[in-house]
Formats: sequence, C-alpha cells, structure tokens
Amino acid sequence: MISCKGGVGTSFVTANLGDTIARQYGKRVLVVDLSRHFGDLAHIVSDKTPPSTLPDICGQADRMDAALLDACLVHVDNGFDLLAGAADPVQATHIQKEKLEWILSVAQPNYDFILVDMGQNIDPLSISVLDQSERIYVVTEPAVACGRPGRRLLDILHALHYPASKIQLVLNRTGRKSEVPRATMEDIFGMKVAVVLPDDPSAVEEAVSHGEPVGKLSRRSAISRALQGMAAQLAPPPESGRHSKAGAISPLRRLMLRTKST
Ligand SMILES: Nc1ncnc2c1ncn2[C@@H]1O[C@H](COP(=O)(O)OP(=O)(O)O)[C@@H](O)[C@H]1O
Ligand SMILES: [Mg+2]
Repeated sequence: MISCKGGVGTSFVTANLGDTIARQYGKRVLVVDLSRHFGDLAHIVSDKTPPSTLPDICGQADRMDAALLDACLVHVDNGFDLLAGAADPVQATHIQKEKLEWILSVAQPNYDFILVDMGQNIDPLSISVLDQSERIYVVTEPAVACGRPGRRLLDILHALHYPASKIQLVLNRTGRKSEVPRATMEDIFGMKVAVVLPDDPSAVEEAVSHGEPVGKLSRRSAISRALQGMAAQLAPPPESGRHSKAGAISPLRRLMLRTKST
C-alpha cells in the first residue's frame, strides 16, 4: 500500500484491510508499518503498546527466527498480527534493506498475507518490498491535491517496470461534497479505479479513537462493507477459506497469484 500524499488513509486502509482479511476469511495476516514517520499504524487498530518496532528488530535480525519475531509483534486479534513502525524518522534510518528482507522471509511461511504500509516512500527500502509484492495498491482521494502527485507516483511505478496488472488504484473517502468525479481522477491517472472506499467519519473515528478495527466495532458500516469487498478481491470465498491454516495456501494458488501479477 503506497500513497502519493499524507492523510489520504493509507495506514487506516492497510490496518483495517488486514483485520478484514483475517476476520472474514480466517487467514493469517501480518501488517507491517514501513511508513517511517511516526509509527501510528499500530494505534489505529490496537490499544496495546507494541513490544518492539521495525527498527528495533532490525538490530536483532541476526538472531531472528519465527519465535523471536512472534514475540516482537502486536497480536491484534485472531490471525491478525502487526509489526509496528519506527517511532520517528530518525529511528526509521535504522531500518536496513537486507535486514528487512530477512525479517520478511522469516515471517512469510507463517502468514497467508503480508500487507505493508509504505507511506509515501519510493527509495531502495520500499522498492525492495515492491519488487517482492504480488500487488501494489496506490491509495488516493478524489481531490485536486492528489491529482498531480498521484500521476507522478504512477509514472514512477511504471518507469520502475512494475506491470500495470500489478498496480491497483484505491479511491478512499468518496462521497464528500465538492469531490473530484471518479472519471476525472481516472483521466488524470490514466487508469481505472479498482477499489472505492466511502468517507465514513463516524465509524472510522469511533474505531480509531477506541484503537479497535472498524470491522469489529461497526461491522455493517459503509466503510466495513467496502473493506469486505476489497478483501474479497484478495482472498478466496469464505467456503474454501474460513478453515485454512497458516501456510495452507496451495502451491497452485500461489502459482496463480504469481502468474496474475506478472
Ligand atoms: N474512509 C474514511 N472515512 C473517514 N475517515 C477516514 C477514512 N480513511 C481514513 N480516514 C481518516 O483520515 C485520517 C488520515 O488517515 P491515515 O490512515 O493516517 O492517512 P495516511 O496514512 O495516508 O497519512 C485519519 O484520521 C483517518 O481516521
Ligand atoms: Mg500513515
């Protein structure tokens, strides 16, 4: 998950999409806060103090294994874990590319989905994660201020040779007065919007202020239902997915996901 502009909801969407995939489909989900500003993602869905942050565990990467990693995570809810981000941009400089790659490789066998909040960063650290990602969601709002930077971000992703099929546009906070029409945003971005998420201040503010996932507090709210739709694009239908265990994703499905993204 990457954005062109702060405040468009990238952290909120990443954290709550993670919760929705775990809650709705019984999948094991890890959300990683790589946004490198103020480590706020964990507090959107949890009131627990993170035992560790990404820069902290980079310092222990040499002795990292699944058990140590597990002790460093916030266990938000059944199947939904979270790796907290750097508390500030100075701490964030301690995140090293090789260490991050190693930590993700330790985590990967234990999760069906790993979602990473990149914030607005395009640099060697985020590019190494983008390279490994099966899908890149670009989060934006239907606002004039997002037009130019959003287009620029998409141009950069294309210049980095990520295939168009790997990139999906998420239009968050739709339905507010004086928003730019979706068709205009699509013209500016030169691509269709894949996911539309409504502005839902009452449900979002209630959930964020309690440090709870919105799908737990207001399951039937407009934003929760839209997130369920987004999760359905990523996870298989509940009939086949509900009872799946960590690592139970079949080799065939992995292959299909990879093929789809290339
Ligand atoms: N769909 C939405 N409806 C209402 N408020 C939202 C929605 N998405 C995000 N927000 C709010 O917008 C603000 C910025 O969200 P945040 O996730 O921190 O943005 P970013 O990570 O892109 O900087 C937060 O107060 C968040 O609760
Ligand atoms: Mg953020």
